[in-house]
Amino acid sequence: MGLASSWVLYTAIFAGALALRWVLLRVNKWVYEGRLKGKSYHLPPGDLGWPLIGNMWTFLRAFKTKNPDSFISNIVERYGKGGIYKTFMFGNPSILVTSPEGCRKVLTDDDNFKPGWPTSTEELIGKKSFVSISYEEHKRLRRLTSAPVNGHEALSLYIPYIEKNVISDLEKWSKMGNIEFLTGVRKLTFKIIMYIFLSAESGDVMEALEKEYTILNYGVRALAINIPGFAFHKAFKARKNLVATLQATVDERRQRERENSSAREKDMLDALLHVEDENGRKLTDEEIIDLLIMYLNAGHESSGHVTMWATLLLQGHPEIFQRAKAEQEEIVKNRPPTQKGLTLREVRKMEYLSQVIDETLRWLTFSLMVFREAKADVNIGGYLFPKGWKVLVWFRAVHYDPEIYPNPEVFNPSRWDNFTPKAGTFLPFGAGSRLCPGNDLAKLEISIFLHYFLLNYRLERVNPGCELMYLPHPRPVDNCLARVRKVA
Ligand code: HEM
Repeated sequence: MGLASSWVLYTAIFAGALALRWVLLRVNKWVYEGRLKGKSYHLPPGDLGWPLIGNMWTFLRAFKTKNPDSFISNIVERYGKGGIYKTFMFGNPSILVTSPEGCRKVLTDDDNFKPGWPTSTEELIGKKSFVSISYEEHKRLRRLTSAPVNGHEALSLYIPYIEKNVISDLEKWSKMGNIEFLTGVRKLTFKIIMYIFLSAESGDVMEALEKEYTILNYGVRALAINIPGFAFHKAFKARKNLVATLQATVDERRQRERENSSAREKDMLDALLHVEDENGRKLTDEEIIDLLIMYLNAGHESSGHVTMWATLLLQGHPEIFQRAKAEQEEIVKNRPPTQKGLTLREVRKMEYLSQVIDETLRWLTFSLMVFREAKADVNIGGYLFPKGWKVLVWFRAVHYDPEIYPNPEVFNPSRWDNFTPKAGTFLPFGAGSRLCPGNDLAKLEISIFLHYFLLNYRLERVNPGCELMYLPHPRPVDNCLARVRKVA
């Protein structure tokens, strides 16, 4: 083949590739936007990416770099600061919301938005859990289940239990050399939620359940490929094991009550077994088990991660550590000599520690975003949220908005001095009818943990995984080898 004909061939291949790219990048637009002709509002700016994968590749790539927020900043650069964009992610055409006002509107409008979690999450967490049930059912079960874990007064009952376990775990770790710190705190938060929900303290069952939850959570975050060897497949198996163990617990509880009706445990499982709706219908075992799977998971995973990060961040910032420690020493100093252990009043006095925790929640934003789905065509800010489209409420963008939080990548608890965030600008626990029911419990657990850690311990020999905290942007770490050293 002559030089000229090769050149023609290469040009044709190149032009063909460009044309194919042009077509492929418009497929989603033709398919999904084509159906919206004649609507009175326009879709927000943005693009729907490639067929099937949409913008997932860009999203996942950004979260593998040192700057995960480049995903959003690129969108803002291309489509402006409006805070509402169209996109295609997690297999669906979606509206991405990054403005505080937009987030607040979506989260507080139950008439127009419902949960919109990917089907894979629904399957793993449970079709009868809060992520899937009807609006009315959610309202009823939410009222029932949130009371024992909401409000500091109710929670003060658990302070001695949390305290006892924090003290003994820190002491145990300090004698163990290097430990997987996240595994440790996760086990601790799991023990606490198991105690509240199932009055359970049995070490073996707890250990087994906690292991299954670790596998389940890998699956929730993984691609939904249900083939042996993949995380999602393993998570399905873990869910089956969790169901079997919890079913045995429910059976045992029912049996015990049949044998001795006065032997009721007065914990969350007890409440779930006896609650009736207005027609006298009780919950089925499937419903009870899905609620337990959801609560036990939500009730330890996030608190475990936030506790780990708060500890790492304190240890990484000596002046902040010193100020937080001084506050805790002052609390102990002012305590009547006869008093043993922390009181709710003392926890409420931990002003600076509360700022440390809020700043950790903002800086980490463990729940990067939440999913909703538009129940009808909705207009927000002059843009159309089409019926059936998913809505990604992107908390992390709000928490990293320099106009709300100057130098957002800097961990600075003092930014909370005399600062009350406006509605929609601080969303670590979400907002609206699905605001995290465990927010007070989480803050209480973390405060008690940090109280004892600051007073008596420090964290040492942090392995390279933990060095991630020094990156300008926090990223989740799988685990972190550390040594808890007693200093007192
Ligand atoms: C620092 C720790 C925690 C963080 C960052 C966190 C974060 C969140 C967020 C952002 C949501 C809202 C989800 C949405 O809008 O769809 C949520 C919901 C939820 N959280 Fe938490 N959470 C934490 C601790 C807990 C604890 C300790 C419990 C257990 C009592 C818990 C139980 C739940 C439940 C059951 C829901 C679903 C609520 C509903 O749909 O009505 N969380 N959490």
